[in-house]
Amino acid sequence: MTSPGKAGLAILISGRGSNMQAFVDACASGQLDASISVVISNKPDAAGLQRAADAGIATCCVDHREYDSREAFDQALVNRLANYPVDLVILAGFMRILTPVFITAFSGRLLNIHPSLLPLYPGLHTHQRALEAGDEEAGVTVHFVTRELDGGPPVLQARVPIIPGDTEQSLASRVMLREHVIYPLAARWYLQGRLRLEGKCAYLDEALIPATGVQYSEETS
Ligand code: GRF
Repeated sequence: MTSPGKAGLAILISGRGSNMQAFVDACASGQLDASISVVISNKPDAAGLQRAADAGIATCCVDHREYDSREAFDQALVNRLANYPVDLVILAGFMRILTPVFITAFSGRLLNIHPSLLPLYPGLHTHQRALEAGDEEAGVTVHFVTRELDGGPPVLQARVPIIPGDTEQSLASRVMLREHVIYPLAARWYLQGRLRLEGKCAYLDEALIPATGVQYSEETS
């Protein structure tokens, strides 16, 4: 799947890999001028690994249970990625907290997607927390990864309404549709040289991105 001359993506997953699939589709359609060099999971049974293999992408598992510390696991990830052309690392439902060993190695070229309107609800159970708080909207944020958990500067954020009667599942499904749109778009900005991290700030087209990220609309491109 690796194509000479194209930017290389590494995608890290832990589960079903629907965001990874969005990248597969974006690369196939030409929306993203990149190829996926490798998909790595920390879980051997992650469904996304099979999806990636079915798409002809190199896959591997680096099982965190085989390492004594988070740092040793992160170093193993860094070592594995050294075998592939990697311009940008995409965390797509990767459920391990990364240490500076990994974050420093890919600083400024490491993106994550978090299913909340950051800075609201870092951590887990975001949809449940939005429902319990009585929020009128929820959403998803693509952000640069820094040492602060879910705390790196937001890049792009999409909002969806919370509808009376919503469950965690119905809300998650509505948010997910947006995830698959905004994540490849943010990656495209990066690969086009329009997006960068400097210190604790993210810039798009040399303009400082606001603290909640660029707000996505149908016109965002
Ligand atoms: C998504 O909700 C993403 O926002 C979060 O983990 C989930 C991964 O889903 N970080 P998938 O594996 O991409 O389907």
